Amino acid sequence: MEVRANAKLNLTLDVLGKRPDGYHDLRMIMQSVELADVLNLEYNETGELRVCTNLHFLPNNDKNLAAQAALRWWEARGEKPRGLDIAIEKRIPVCAGMAGGSSDAAAVLRALNARERSPLSPAEVARIGERVGSDVPYCVIGGTALAEGRGELLTHLPPLPHCWVVLCKPEFSISTPALFAKIDSVRLRCRPDTQGAIDALEAGDLTGVARRLYNVFEDALPDRQRARVSDIKNVLIQCGALGASMSGTGPTAFGLFDSEDRALEAQARLTGLGGEIFLTQTV
Ligand code: C5P
Repeated sequence: MEVRANAKLNLTLDVLGKRPDGYHDLRMIMQSVELADVLNLEYNETGELRVCTNLHFLPNNDKNLAAQAALRWWEARGEKPRGLDIAIEKRIPVCAGMAGGSSDAAAVLRALNARERSPLSPAEVARIGERVGSDVPYCVIGGTALAEGRGELLTHLPPLPHCWVVLCKPEFSISTPALFAKIDSVRLRCRPDTQGAIDALEAGDLTGVARRLYNVFEDALPDRQRARVSDIKNVLIQCGALGASMSGTGPTAFGLFDSEDRALEAQARLTGLGGEIFLTQTV
C-alpha cells in the first residue's frame, strides 16, 4: 500500500487559552500543500511493527507517530496488532510546524482503512487519529479547514484559490510543548482575523486571505529566532508574495504567490541564505 502524506500550513493560528487538561484551545485555518512524505505499508509474517525512514534520527519503533497510528487503529477495531512494515520517505521538514509526523500517522490510518471491506467514514478515521495527536484528525481530512478545540473540531471551508507556496524551514527546530508553555506568559500584540479570512475564502478572494495570514506563536519565539522568521517573510514579500506567515509552532515561514515566476524568484533569493527551501502549491 503506497500512500502520500501531505504537509499542512496554518493560514491563521490563534491560541484562545489554556484548558484544565493541559492542552490549549485553538482556532486556526489549515491548508494542505502538495509537498508530501510517501509511505509504503506491507504486512509481514514476523508479527513485528517496524518503521524505517530515510532520516536516521527518527524513531523506528512505536515512538514514531506512524506506528502509534497503526496501534490505535487495531485497538479501535478490537483487533490484535499485526506484523507491519512502514517505510517512510520523508520530504516534509521535521519539527517544522508542518505536521509531518501527524500527516504520516493520518496516512497510515487512511491506508489501513482503505483495506477494510466496509471502510469507516473520514470523520470516524479522524476520531481514531485524535488519540495519536491533535493535528492528526485534520491530516486525515486535509484540504482547507477550520480547526478548533485541541485541533480536532473540524469544519470544512471553501478551498483556498490555487496558489504557489514558497516555504523556508530555518536551520533550527522548535519544541512544540515548550512554545505552548511559553505562550501562556506572552502578551499577544495582535490576533488573527480568522472570520475575515473565512469570509475571504467564501468570496474566493486569495488576496483577502493572504492579507490576513497571522500566527500568534511568532510573538512567543525567542528574539533571534523571531528575527530569522521575520527576515524570511520580508524576502518573500519583497519578491511579491501576497502575504507571509509562520506555520504551526514554527519555525517554517511561507509566502503565498499568484505568480509562478515570482515564486521561483523568491525560491532563488532564499536559496543560499540557509535552511530548507521548497516551492510547492496548494492542494
Ligand atoms: O496533541 P499533541 O501530542 O500533538 O500535542 C503535543 C503537545 O503540544 C502537547 O503535549 C501540548 O503541550 C501541546 N498542545 C497544546 N494544545 C493543543 C495541542 C498541543 O497545549 N491544542
